[in-house]
Amino acid sequence: MAPPVTIVAVDSYDGRLAVVTGGGSGMGRELVRQLAALGCSVAACDVNPDTVAVAAATAWAAAPAGVVVTGHTCDVSDETQVRRFRDELLEQHGRARVDLVFANAGIGGGESFVKSARQEWEQTFAVDFWGVYHCARTFLPLLIRSGDGVLVNTSSVNGFWAALGPMPNSAYSTAKFAVRGFTEALMVDLRANAPQVRVVLVMPGHVGTDIIANSLRARGFPPPQDMTDAQVEQLIPADARTTMITAGLLGEDATAGDLRQMLAQASVDFRDKAPVSAAEAAATILDGVRSGAWRILIGNDARIIDAAVRARPEAAYEPGFLTGLTAGTTGS
Ligand SMILES: NC(=O)c1ccc[n+]([C@@H]2O[C@H](COP(=O)([O-])OP(=O)(O)OC[C@H]3O[C@@H](n4cnc5c(N)ncnc54)[C@H](O)[C@@H]3O)[C@@H](O)[C@H]2O)c1
Repeated sequence: MAPPVTIVAVDSYDGRLAVVTGGGSGMGRELVRQLAALGCSVAACDVNPDTVAVAAATAWAAAPAGVVVTGHTCDVSDETQVRRFRDELLEQHGRARVDLVFANAGIGGGESFVKSARQEWEQTFAVDFWGVYHCARTFLPLLIRSGDGVLVNTSSVNGFWAALGPMPNSAYSTAKFAVRGFTEALMVDLRANAPQVRVVLVMPGHVGTDIIANSLRARGFPPPQDMTDAQVEQLIPADARTTMITAGLLGEDATAGDLRQMLAQASVDFRDKAPVSAAEAAATILDGVRSGAWRILIGNDARIIDAAVRARPEAAYEPGFLTGLTAGTTGS
């Protein structure tokens, strides 16, 4: 019989050591900054060495005395690299335990199981699911040693709804559903077998970050504005262009230059016109973890879609399911 469960809120981040994956941009970078400002030492990793180095140095420079913030290069889809990251951070921080792990790193891609390249589909799944899994495998013993550890796994609204309106989002949704399933199963498992560790599931709606450009980068593309015509046409092949023309999103005589401009604008708009900023999202995550919540939804869009999918599961993939639902949402 499992012992009774006590949900332990984090009373303070002060003096703790947190690991943040994907710490070079977006919500990860904000988690690093805000944790450090709250007196928490942080080991941040990212597949992009330049951005994580800047994020760590900036957070450290603004942190109270005694806080240490380190930046590390690590591809979370590769377990060997995650283990090397662990060894590096324990040595640099001079600690033998970790108190918080934010498995935040993620990319988009592999939208269609039918049409996307298999390599792209599997890369997206590997970063978004295996990255979270490798972090749990690698850091759980150190969280147990903390005596009061918290593992925070980032899923998405695509962890309860596997589409982007009429557009498929296959690899990403599959991975984010897997993160949710893994996290919820782990919650029950930890209560029975490692009650000194708590697990938290984060499900953001639209948050303003550079995830579009960073996901393209992960697939070897430059930022949209620097793409060649051939790269633009590889990214938006002829049949996708036809679909967009039919949907009125693109003029019939659109050139590669028009597509490049559209992509660049979409990437900027995704970041700058989001209902919730990365800073607000990170604050919501940290408040949620502190309160003892295990399920943190970010943004009104996430709350609305979650409620709608649970209320009308049979309708969730019907055309127009979302029409009107998220209009006027103003974020978290
Ligand atoms: N922005 C959104 O609207 C949104 C919505 C739902 C869920 N999410 C999820 O939130 C998390 C953070 O996303 P974000 O929007 O802040 O994106 P972001 O691109 O700004 O930040 C993600 C960071 O992860 C890093 N990264 C990518 N692949 C990696 C790998 N293999 N190993 C280590 N680091 C890697 C990127 O370089 C980047 O710095 C992701 O898991 C994402 O799927 C984002």
